[in-house]
Amino acid sequence: MSLTPELVAHCRNQFPALGRTVAGEPAVFLDGPAGTQVPRAVIDAVSSYLAHQNANHGGVFATSVESDALLDQVHRAAADLVGAEDPDTVFFGANMTSLTLAMSRALGRTWRAGDEVLVTRLDHDANVTPWVLAARDAGATVRYAEIHREDCTLDLDQLRGQLSQRTRLVAVGCASNAVGTINPVRQITQWAHQHGALVFLDAVHYAPHALLDVAAWDCDLLACSAYKFFGPHMGLMWGRRELLESLPAYKVRPAPDTLPGKWMTGTQNHECLAGVLAAIDYLAWLGREAGGDPHADRRSALTAAFQAIGDYERTLCQRLLAGLAELPAVRVWGITDPRRLAERLPTLSVTHRSLPAIDVARHLAARGIFAWHGNYYALQLSETLGREPDGMVRVGLVHYNTPREVDRLLAALRELV
Ligand SMILES: Cc1ncc(COP(=O)(O)O)c(C=O)c1O
Repeated sequence: MSLTPELVAHCRNQFPALGRTVAGEPAVFLDGPAGTQVPRAVIDAVSSYLAHQNANHGGVFATSVESDALLDQVHRAAADLVGAEDPDTVFFGANMTSLTLAMSRALGRTWRAGDEVLVTRLDHDANVTPWVLAARDAGATVRYAEIHREDCTLDLDQLRGQLSQRTRLVAVGCASNAVGTINPVRQITQWAHQHGALVFLDAVHYAPHALLDVAAWDCDLLACSAYKFFGPHMGLMWGRRELLESLPAYKVRPAPDTLPGKWMTGTQNHECLAGVLAAIDYLAWLGREAGGDPHADRRSALTAAFQAIGDYERTLCQRLLAGLAELPAVRVWGITDPRRLAERLPTLSVTHRSLPAIDVARHLAARGIFAWHGNYYALQLSETLGREPDGMVRVGLVHYNTPREVDRLLAALRELV
């Protein structure tokens, strides 16, 4: 299973956006954590739906019947992506934040004064504030899992010490969108379940890099966003059937009481759902191309894809960390030890000794290197690290990035030293 340079080039050719140039040089897209580019198959699926099948679902005429068939297919594909058996336990919405706010309102109705929810200092705010607001409405208490500042990992002892019979929910990310730390979500879930708490996983940042596996992790709810894994702007959520069935959803009266319709408010963005299906199938194609079984079922192909993607991305990350270690004016926040690459994703936040983050981002942008600056909504983390209001500069690698692009980034940063 491997992503050879030829296969990476083949993948890149499928992403029209990667052909962009800035001042005569190919653009370098290091903004994947804020949204990846999309392959041609996704663009075609969106436009083909609008051209040929555009309709509401549930009708008896051709375009509506085809729309229903599309919905069935995308639920099945999303179940394969998250590692669930039951396609009806996955539902879609505008984005992860909207889905999480809706879920927090539903869960919050089951909480009482004296109940507790546990969130972390490492998470994106979309996995913090929805729970804080729901807890406030219910009179419940919010507790925070702290981090080790030196490597931006969760302080697991402190986290475990926050759990008790009062804990109703633990909300934690699979990986940090700011510093790339991978969290031991299986372990955290076990601890939470020992106290009878539910576990909500934010897989938004993890999904383009590694295999989601709700069955192995044994979590209760998980959310991610297709626009971070090479699809269009849509969010999706998975939940345990018993939980989704028993929780009261905020929904209109004619909407179904059954899954998945119970959790899908209003008319869905069918054209983007066509794109989500194409994005998942692109990843499965990649798995088969990378040396997996060409006849593998979609879940097996996705497993192969993420093995190959993970191996390749770790080589890129190692190259980047090694180069950054030679730049004394640049500080990397998070895990830097090359022996600990399995504990992080190739998403790095850096700061410059004397330049504000925005100036570093501007310097890179002028050289055609697209990188984000600020706190990227990982507000608790940015505050904990003392980086507000300036923030950091984030460079995020995905499988369509190349060693040459890493070298261009390093050369551009070297000019600032
Ligand atoms: C880790 C993480 N969680 C949640 C979100 C919010 O996702 P969405 O934009 O789909 O609401 C993001 C977006 O950047 C993210 O990176």
